[in-house]
Amino acid sequence: MQPRFYLHQGVRQMRRRPPSWLTVSLLLGLMITAAGLRAQTVNPAAYWPFDEGTGIVAHDASGNNHDATLQGGAGWTAGLVGPYALSLPGAPGSYADVPTDVVDTTQSYTVAAWVKLNDVNGYQTFVSEDGPEPTNPESAFFLQLRGDSHQFSFTIPYSFFINAQSGFTPVAGRWYHLAGVYDAAAQSVSLYVNGVLADTIYRVAPRAASGHTGIGHGQFAGSYVDWVNGAIDDVRLYGAALSGADILRIAQIGNPSLTVPTVQPAALEVDAAHPGARLDPLFNGLMIEEINHSLDGGLYGELIQNRDFKDDPTTPVHWSVVQDGGGAGSIALDPSQPVPNTALTVSLRVDVSHGPRVGVANEGYWGIPVRPLMTYRASFWAKAAPGFSGPLTLEVQSADGTTVYARAQVPEITTDWAKYGVLLQTFYAPFTDDARFVISTGSAGTFWLNQVSLFRPTYRNRPNGNRIDLMEMMAAMRPHFLRMPGGNYLEGNTIETRFEWKNTIGPIELRPGHMGTWGYRSDEGVGLLEFLEWCEDLNMQPLLAVYAGYSLNGTHVNPGPDLAPYVQDALDEIQYVTGSTSTAWGARRAADGHPAPFPLEYVEVGNEDFFDTSGSYEGRFAQFYDAIKATYPNLKLIATTRVSSRTPDVVDDHFYNSPRSMARMSSHYDPSNYGRTGPKIFVGEWASQEGSPTPDLFAALGDAAWLTGLERNADLVIMECYAPLLANVNPGAYQWPTNLIGYDALRSYGSPSYYMQVMFDWLHGDVVLPAKLTTSGGSLLYESVTRDTRDGTIYLKLVNMAGELQPLHVTLNGAGGAAAGLAVVLTSANPQDTNTLDEPYRVVPRIMQVRGGGPSFDLELQPYSVTVLPIGGPGHGQP
Ligand code: AHR
Repeated sequence: MQPRFYLHQGVRQMRRRPPSWLTVSLLLGLMITAAGLRAQTVNPAAYWPFDEGTGIVAHDASGNNHDATLQGGAGWTAGLVGPYALSLPGAPGSYADVPTDVVDTTQSYTVAAWVKLNDVNGYQTFVSEDGPEPTNPESAFFLQLRGDSHQFSFTIPYSFFINAQSGFTPVAGRWYHLAGVYDAAAQSVSLYVNGVLADTIYRVAPRAASGHTGIGHGQFAGSYVDWVNGAIDDVRLYGAALSGADILRIAQIGNPSLTVPTVQPAALEVDAAHPGARLDPLFNGLMIEEINHSLDGGLYGELIQNRDFKDDPTTPVHWSVVQDGGGAGSIALDPSQPVPNTALTVSLRVDVSHGPRVGVANEGYWGIPVRPLMTYRASFWAKAAPGFSGPLTLEVQSADGTTVYARAQVPEITTDWAKYGVLLQTFYAPFTDDARFVISTGSAGTFWLNQVSLFRPTYRNRPNGNRIDLMEMMAAMRPHFLRMPGGNYLEGNTIETRFEWKNTIGPIELRPGHMGTWGYRSDEGVGLLEFLEWCEDLNMQPLLAVYAGYSLNGTHVNPGPDLAPYVQDALDEIQYVTGSTSTAWGARRAADGHPAPFPLEYVEVGNEDFFDTSGSYEGRFAQFYDAIKATYPNLKLIATTRVSSRTPDVVDDHFYNSPRSMARMSSHYDPSNYGRTGPKIFVGEWASQEGSPTPDLFAALGDAAWLTGLERNADLVIMECYAPLLANVNPGAYQWPTNLIGYDALRSYGSPSYYMQVMFDWLHGDVVLPAKLTTSGGSLLYESVTRDTRDGTIYLKLVNMAGELQPLHVTLNGAGGAAAGLAVVLTSANPQDTNTLDEPYRVVPRIMQVRGGGPSFDLELQPYSVTVLPIGGPGHGQP
């Protein structure tokens, strides 16, 4: 008999007590109510059986008078449900037209149809409702085949770019039942294929419909498009989000044998005797750019928002006047008082008419953090008008000004601009971020302020450094590289607003700052050297992305002489990073405080240049490639899209998708799908998009499944990093929906995907072991197996995305006796469970005991779980 390993909750309090009679009756009551509700069938708002077989009218069998009229070459063919179906020739103008919209698409609704295609190429839309926009209207929804992915999709056009998709390309000549569901309460869009849920995406804003309903076309940029070549049958529209059970029931009308498959036992056979590729030592890293207040208002230790008064040209935003106890005064931006020989071109003028206390308050980045025994480092530039000399009082105080948490004084300022610095310290303070920073005086007169700075304690006490808790969270991920400084932030919305590295070095008062790509300005406190020092602090290599002559508004610099200065800039930048102090830019780095050069292996040329439809990247990449390789032959160059002008060492691929799609795509780089003759792959941005502002458990499972695919294909995929990494979770502070680590001014937390990545980054070997996974039924199982060649430990990574226990039989060929140990498991009862500032540890890894041993054993994987099981090795699999 095979030994059996059980992954069980080793913690006593996890055992459930028998339910009381009261609980049982309550549950029974709920079940009866739910069953009663479910028995009520939702009636369709329109239902076209397409069984006429003659004429041009397809009657609405719902009784709601939404008859359709066949247009152009639309006709009749053999049906799946009933004798006939709508036949469409794939020709413009051939469709069935309903002269009105049928369901309110801003509320919950469902659209279902059987479809059979003669040709599976291009966009083909089976059902849509016209959009109401006066110019260039677009369908409110498209139940369709997409031309880009070649998959079925329920597409609702919206600002983000993922759709609920089938995960496969249909076969011509086969009937498929499709159902698209918009659930207004969950703001989710789901696609069911043959009665089985294929995909769900969240945070979708619905689109209103008005005008015609189309069967056999979509509407885009004001025109009807997406002509269908095939047959459509039994089309239904409901003004409700149907349940999965209801959808299966409708699908079974056309094919009674359809069922939702249940999880079946699976088998994993590992060949431990023939290790495969080595994992690149740099395999996992981080990606950063200024998005979501990742740096300013995030990692950067600065607490003052708009410290140099440039965020708005007319108003000192984030600042307010303080007039305490009857004091009177005013504040205003003053461009006539720049700080000489600096980039501080606009100052804040403070006029004090009379005391007892007048000043200015800064609200911070959604508050100023306060804790007991917290030391702040304050500094500011100031100049007094004749007759005023201070003193100036600096305080961290409650937002309403009634409680002072920390105070310091600058006794005197002069009529010349000068920089002042003091420390402030809290003692018996609460934990809060409902606080502000105030500079005030009791004396009448005028003074000016600039670059007002208040720093929290920083990691390793670095001046101008980083927030400690976030650095520690990143350190726990054991990253090996930092892809910096973007992302879109590198490119800028325009060429002028690109990341111009030479503006980001040296004393901070000399850095001009610039408008970023995510709706807010950066004054570049985190400049090139700060990025590099951050790498040094966390033992990472910089993966330097250089601006390559393309910006987000679509403008590009022509290859050739126009591009030459940008290429030179990149060469200078590489010299700043790596050059000895005898080089010009190496000497500049030393003057900036860091004589030692930084290690650098990879330089990325641009970001997402596939968006540059001009085709200029071929020439731009070639020009950068030739110049960089000529000077730095050992550097490896990363292209941001496929190029043929030169052969890049590496290509950077990006993936944002629903968890189910990410999981399905875990085979993307398998040898059966992806050749091995081209450049190596760097997956420089990836993330399952579910949960906001940080991913939920299901997203973590999609991410884990995706990562198993990258790890299995380590012969091709040499590095990966999730994006975006950081998000200030205050409303209005973040722009990207799903981000790895969340924080406010005071607190921070890791998402389930963060913890999954910590598990993966700690528990892996250095070689891939070949493994064969055999699944059937409704199993949603993903794996990768690695071995540590130094101590022999084998790491099984297993992801069960199904909501049921997954039995798994494991055979380890060539591994000798496998010792029992402990597994690390990330799971929770509900796939939408997540972590938040208030509940930071709801979904975290737990240690579970594994009983048994031997070269062949059985496991039961928890529903919705990621399991990492170390086997053998010196610690006998103790993680
Ligand atoms: O990670 C967020 C953004 O996604 C990056 O800035 C960009 O490179 C990608 O489009």
